[in-house]
Amino acid sequence: MTVLRTNQDLDATRLREVFGIYPSGVVAVAAIVDGVPVGLAASSFTSVSLDPPLVSFSIANASKTWPDLRRAAHLGVTILADHHSAVARQLAGPVERRFDGLSTTATPDGALTLDDGLAQFDTTIYDEVLAGDHTIVLLRLVAVEHTAVAEPSPLVFHRSRFGRVQPG
Ligand SMILES: Cc1cc2nc3c(=O)[nH]c(=O)nc-3n(C[C@H](O)[C@H](O)[C@H](O)COP(=O)(O)O)c2cc1C
Repeated sequence: MTVLRTNQDLDATRLREVFGIYPSGVVAVAAIVDGVPVGLAASSFTSVSLDPPLVSFSIANASKTWPDLRRAAHLGVTILADHHSAVARQLAGPVERRFDGLSTTATPDGALTLDDGLAQFDTTIYDEVLAGDHTIVLLRLVAVEHTAVAEPSPLVFHRSRFGRVQPG
Protein backbone atom coordinates (compact mmCIF):
# COMPACT_ATOMS: atom_id res chain seq x y z
CA MET A 1 0.00 0.00 0.00
CA THR A 2 1.27 3.48 -0.87
CA VAL A 3 1.03 5.95 2.00
CA LEU A 4 1.12 9.63 1.08
CA ARG A 5 3.00 11.39 3.86
CA THR A 6 2.22 15.02 4.66
CA ASN A 7 4.81 17.71 5.37
CA GLN A 8 7.09 16.52 2.56
CA ASP A 9 9.77 18.78 1.17
CA LEU A 10 8.46 19.38 -2.36
CA ASP A 11 11.69 20.88 -3.66
CA ALA A 12 12.31 21.52 -7.36
CA THR A 13 14.44 18.40 -7.86
CA ARG A 14 11.76 16.12 -6.41
CA LEU A 15 8.98 17.86 -8.34
CA ARG A 16 10.88 17.62 -11.64
CA GLU A 17 11.40 13.91 -10.99
CA VAL A 18 7.76 13.23 -10.18
CA PHE A 19 6.34 15.49 -12.94
CA GLY A 20 8.59 13.63 -15.38
CA ILE A 21 6.80 10.35 -14.69
CA TYR A 22 3.90 11.71 -16.73
CA PRO A 23 4.81 11.41 -20.44
CA SER A 24 4.12 14.23 -22.86
CA GLY A 25 4.65 15.20 -26.46
CA VAL A 26 6.87 18.11 -27.48
CA VAL A 27 5.93 21.13 -29.59
CA ALA A 28 7.80 24.04 -31.10
CA VAL A 29 6.20 27.43 -30.42
CA ALA A 30 7.59 29.99 -32.85
CA ALA A 31 7.04 33.20 -34.78
CA ILE A 32 8.84 35.77 -36.86
CA VAL A 33 9.46 38.76 -34.57
CA ASP A 34 11.18 41.87 -35.93
CA GLY A 35 12.16 39.86 -39.00
CA VAL A 36 13.89 36.99 -37.20
CA PRO A 37 12.66 33.55 -36.09
CA VAL A 38 11.99 33.32 -32.35
CA GLY A 39 10.79 30.24 -30.49
CA LEU A 40 11.30 27.41 -28.07
CA ALA A 41 10.51 23.77 -27.33
CA ALA A 42 7.65 23.04 -24.92
CA SER A 43 6.45 19.76 -23.44
CA SER A 44 3.64 21.41 -21.46
CA PHE A 45 1.39 21.63 -24.52
CA THR A 46 -2.14 20.30 -24.16
CA SER A 47 -5.45 20.55 -25.96
CA VAL A 48 -8.04 22.56 -23.99
CA SER A 49 -11.29 23.43 -25.78
CA LEU A 50 -13.22 22.67 -28.97
CA ASP A 51 -15.46 25.75 -28.91
CA PRO A 52 -13.64 28.06 -29.06
CA PRO A 53 -10.70 25.96 -30.32
CA LEU A 54 -8.01 26.36 -27.65
CA VAL A 55 -4.72 24.74 -26.74
CA SER A 56 -2.28 25.71 -24.01
CA PHE A 57 1.30 25.49 -22.91
CA SER A 58 3.11 26.76 -19.81
CA ILE A 59 6.04 29.11 -20.09
CA ALA A 60 8.54 29.73 -17.31
CA ASN A 61 8.31 33.30 -16.04
CA ALA A 62 12.11 33.36 -16.29
CA SER A 63 11.96 32.78 -20.07
CA LYS A 64 14.03 35.31 -22.00
CA THR A 65 12.26 34.38 -25.24
CA TRP A 66 8.63 34.74 -24.19
CA PRO A 67 8.61 38.55 -23.86
CA ASP A 68 9.62 38.75 -27.55
CA LEU A 69 7.55 35.81 -28.75
CA ARG A 70 4.32 37.10 -27.19
CA ARG A 71 4.63 40.30 -29.25
CA ALA A 72 3.98 38.35 -32.46
CA ALA A 73 0.53 38.80 -33.99
CA HIS A 74 0.29 35.02 -34.55
CA LEU A 75 2.22 32.10 -33.05
CA GLY A 76 2.98 28.86 -34.85
CA VAL A 77 2.82 25.54 -32.98
CA THR A 78 4.37 22.38 -34.45
CA ILE A 79 3.92 18.91 -32.96
CA LEU A 80 7.35 17.31 -33.19
CA ALA A 81 7.92 13.84 -34.63
CA ASP A 82 10.01 11.00 -33.16
CA HIS A 83 12.99 11.99 -35.34
CA HIS A 84 13.05 15.47 -33.77
CA SER A 85 14.92 14.82 -30.49
CA ALA A 86 17.96 16.84 -31.66
CA VAL A 87 15.61 19.56 -32.95
CA ALA A 88 13.87 19.74 -29.56
CA ARG A 89 17.25 20.20 -27.83
CA GLN A 90 18.25 22.82 -30.41
CA LEU A 91 15.00 24.72 -29.81
CA ALA A 92 15.86 24.85 -26.10
CA GLY A 93 19.50 25.80 -26.67
CA PRO A 94 21.35 28.99 -27.61
CA VAL A 95 18.82 31.48 -29.00
CA GLU A 96 20.86 32.46 -32.08
CA ARG A 97 21.09 28.85 -33.30
CA ARG A 98 17.57 27.57 -32.53
CA PHE A 99 16.44 27.54 -36.17
CA ASP A 100 19.74 26.60 -37.84
CA GLY A 101 19.16 24.06 -40.60
CA LEU A 102 15.44 23.77 -39.96
CA SER A 103 12.97 23.88 -42.82
CA THR A 104 10.24 26.30 -41.74
CA THR A 105 7.28 28.20 -43.17
CA ALA A 106 5.88 31.50 -41.91
CA THR A 107 2.34 32.78 -42.46
CA PRO A 108 1.88 36.45 -43.47
CA ASP A 109 1.00 37.09 -39.80
CA GLY A 110 4.30 35.63 -38.62
CA ALA A 111 3.27 32.20 -37.28
CA LEU A 112 6.33 29.99 -37.85
CA THR A 113 6.07 26.20 -38.16
CA LEU A 114 8.42 23.31 -38.95
CA ASP A 115 7.72 21.72 -42.32
CA ASP A 116 8.38 18.13 -41.20
CA GLY A 117 6.29 18.27 -38.01
CA LEU A 118 3.29 16.01 -37.47
CA ALA A 119 0.85 18.93 -37.19
CA GLN A 120 1.06 22.68 -37.60
CA PHE A 121 -1.20 25.24 -35.90
CA ASP A 122 -1.61 28.93 -36.65
CA THR A 123 -2.67 30.55 -33.36
CA THR A 124 -3.26 33.81 -31.54
CA ILE A 125 -2.91 34.41 -27.81
CA TYR A 126 -6.33 34.03 -26.16
CA ASP A 127 -5.25 34.55 -22.55
CA GLU A 128 -2.27 34.33 -20.21
CA VAL A 129 -2.82 33.06 -16.67
CA LEU A 130 -0.09 33.51 -14.09
CA ALA A 131 0.44 30.17 -12.35
CA GLY A 132 3.28 30.19 -9.83
CA ASP A 133 6.67 30.40 -11.52
CA HIS A 134 5.04 29.70 -14.93
CA THR A 135 2.35 31.36 -17.03
CA ILE A 136 -0.31 29.24 -18.70
CA VAL A 137 -0.65 30.55 -22.24
CA LEU A 138 -4.00 29.82 -23.89
CA LEU A 139 -3.79 29.87 -27.68
CA ARG A 140 -6.76 30.13 -30.02
CA LEU A 141 -6.44 28.06 -33.19
CA VAL A 142 -6.85 29.98 -36.44
CA ALA A 143 -5.82 27.19 -38.81
CA VAL A 144 -4.51 23.62 -38.52
CA GLU A 145 -2.67 21.22 -40.83
CA HIS A 146 -1.57 17.68 -40.15
CA THR A 147 0.19 14.90 -41.91
CA ALA A 148 -2.17 12.29 -43.33
CA VAL A 149 0.09 9.29 -42.78
CA ALA A 150 0.25 7.39 -39.48
CA GLU A 151 4.07 7.38 -39.52
CA PRO A 152 6.19 8.89 -38.12
CA SER A 153 4.98 8.86 -34.54
CA PRO A 154 5.20 11.79 -32.10
CA LEU A 155 8.27 12.63 -30.07
CA VAL A 156 7.68 11.66 -26.42
CA PHE A 157 9.36 13.32 -23.43
CA HIS A 158 9.46 11.08 -20.37
CA ARG A 159 11.70 11.16 -17.28
CA SER A 160 13.86 13.84 -18.94
CA ARG A 161 14.49 11.60 -21.96
CA PHE A 162 13.15 11.42 -25.48
CA GLY A 163 11.32 8.36 -26.68
CA ARG A 164 8.63 7.27 -29.08
CA VAL A 165 5.21 5.66 -28.95
CA GLN A 166 5.54 1.88 -29.25
CA PRO A 167 2.92 0.46 -31.66
CA GLY A 168 0.41 -1.47 -29.53
C1 LIG B 1 11.78 18.71 -24.25
C2 LIG B 1 11.73 20.11 -23.71
C3 LIG B 1 10.55 20.60 -23.21
C4 LIG B 1 10.45 21.90 -22.70
N1 LIG B 1 9.25 22.36 -22.24
C5 LIG B 1 9.17 23.60 -21.76
C6 LIG B 1 7.91 24.11 -21.31
O1 LIG B 1 6.89 23.44 -21.40
N2 LIG B 1 7.87 25.36 -20.81
C7 LIG B 1 9.00 26.15 -20.72
O2 LIG B 1 8.91 27.29 -20.24
N3 LIG B 1 10.21 25.70 -21.16
C8 LIG B 1 10.30 24.45 -21.68
N4 LIG B 1 11.49 24.00 -22.15
C9 LIG B 1 12.65 24.92 -22.14
C10 LIG B 1 12.56 25.91 -23.32
O3 LIG B 1 12.58 25.23 -24.55
C11 LIG B 1 13.72 26.90 -23.28
O4 LIG B 1 14.93 26.22 -23.23
C12 LIG B 1 13.62 27.77 -22.07
O5 LIG B 1 12.44 28.53 -22.19
C13 LIG B 1 14.84 28.72 -21.90
O6 LIG B 1 15.00 29.51 -23.03
P1 LIG B 1 14.44 31.01 -23.08
O7 LIG B 1 15.01 31.75 -21.90
O8 LIG B 1 14.93 31.51 -24.41
O9 LIG B 1 12.94 30.93 -23.00
C14 LIG B 1 11.61 22.71 -22.67
C15 LIG B 1 12.82 22.22 -23.16
C16 LIG B 1 12.88 20.93 -23.68
C17 LIG B 1 14.18 20.42 -24.23
